[in-house]
Amino acid sequence: MKHLSSFFLFLSLFNLTFYGSTAQNLIQTTCKSCSKNESSITYGFCTSSLQAAPASQCATLRGLGMISIRLIRYNVTDTRCHVKMLLKDTNLDLYNRSRLKVCLDLYSDAIPTIKLAMKSYNTKKYYDANIQISAILAGATTCEDGFKEKEGAVSPLTKRNDNTFQLSAIALSVMNLVMNNNNNG
Ligand SMILES: *[C@@H]1O[C@H](CO)[C@@H](O)[C@H](O)[C@H]1NC(C)=O
Ligand SMILES: *[C@@H]1O[C@H](CO)[C@@H](O)[C@H](O)[C@H]1NC(C)=O
Ligand SMILES: *[C@@H]1O[C@H](CO)[C@@H](O)[C@H](O)[C@H]1NC(C)=O
Repeated sequence: MKHLSSFFLFLSLFNLTFYGSTAQNLIQTTCKSCSKNESSITYGFCTSSLQAAPASQCATLRGLGMISIRLIRYNVTDTRCHVKMLLKDTNLDLYNRSRLKVCLDLYSDAIPTIKLAMKSYNTKKYYDANIQISAILAGATTCEDGFKEKEGAVSPLTKRNDNTFQLSAIALSVMNLVMNNNNNG
């Protein structure tokens, strides 16, 4: 009887520590596997982005997927606004102006696309969500590459493009994990 009760005590302690830490660990283990697989994702960027998102500490893996898609949405919306502002500068030279216009188009397209991706993800159409998020990831790369066409040119959007790229790569990677989880059980 004594043994039995200490066994139950052990069990409930085990449960407490396990469930108490599981959500925190989920972000860490998810980011570990994402950054291991995908060299463009840094572990620190992944954990700090996901941890800063509301309610992420309680999220399931599928929830983390939605959170990462939402982060892309905020980011592309904000970047589109920022590019519009940059384009208001009347002193812009032709090179910078034409590149920024390309970026404005890409980020304008990204907004309806990320909304579609949210719908796709919600209805478990992961294949569609994958195509939509991949398009946004490619858009960030295209925007950034535009500024590399001239030697010595500096992209004013490097940090933002990198944020969009990494957040998209995280969303794709989490989606892969969600699909593998579903297949395994
Ligand atoms: C975009 O994402 C980065 C990385 O998670 C974050 O630091 C930044 O605050 C985000 N910007 C917006 C407007 O959500
Ligand atoms: C474009 O803007 C950058 C600053 O963001 C500036 O250094 C550069 O001279 C501008 N023009 C060209 C042709 O790169
Ligand atoms: C890692 O990459 C493999 C093959 O490229 C893929 O099948 C797997 O789903 C990926 N996992 C994650 C977490 O992205």
